[in-house]
Amino acid sequence: MTEERAAAEVTAFQKILRGRRSIRRYLPGPVDPDKVRACLEAARLAPSAHNAQPWRFVVVDDPELKDRLTSAAFSGIYSGSKFAALAPIIIVLLARLDRVANRIGARLQGVPFHFLDMGIAGEHIVLQAEELGLATCWMGWFNYRKVRKVLDIPRTYKVVAMMPLGYAEKRPNREPPRKTFEEVVTFNGIERD
Ligand SMILES: Cc1cc2nc3c(=O)[nH]c(=O)nc-3n(C[C@H](O)[C@H](O)[C@H](O)COP(=O)(O)O)c2cc1C
Repeated sequence: MTEERAAAEVTAFQKILRGRRSIRRYLPGPVDPDKVRACLEAARLAPSAHNAQPWRFVVVDDPELKDRLTSAAFSGIYSGSKFAALAPIIIVLLARLDRVANRIGARLQGVPFHFLDMGIAGEHIVLQAEELGLATCWMGWFNYRKVRKVLDIPRTYKVVAMMPLGYAEKRPNREPPRKTFEEVVTFNGIERD
């Protein structure tokens, strides 16, 4: 197969997967509200265990609230995360804890399904954003307690992640290293370590 032919066969979805990067430099300018909505619609349509849809997405786009939130969330040992404060929007991902599927998953199966659900929904946001030319970054390194406090989040919700959303000022030059296909995939079993 010629290189040209191979390139032509990369689908639009594969381009999104390959083009997506965690962005840590944002332009402060606004994002078209329809695009923001499309990202959250993508999350709303995500699959979830027992269709529990345990998520709530808090979109923080009010500049004053965003300042208070990011100052609190990214202080002290979390100050390396301050880059996200420049994005015009911060999405806070919350999981509702009182769903039956969560309890069954965690207790009987040993897998907290609601965290799986949140990961899937969050990644729908990320991939939709990428298709629309927007930039995101999953964030787990922030002060969860302070985020709860600033947004007055009820105890029935667990703060799972934060995600800046905006336009990239700069995309990283270097590709993050990825394990090879053979390192991560085995067919019909797995070798012992
Ligand atoms: C659950 C999760 C939490 C993450 N938390 C942070 C974070 O707090 N700060 C950060 O800069 N990147 C964070 N990242 C981004 C990863 O560092 C990034 O996905 C990884 O280095 C691969 O780079 P890429 O996303 O550009 O492919 C997080 C990613 C995930 C999935």
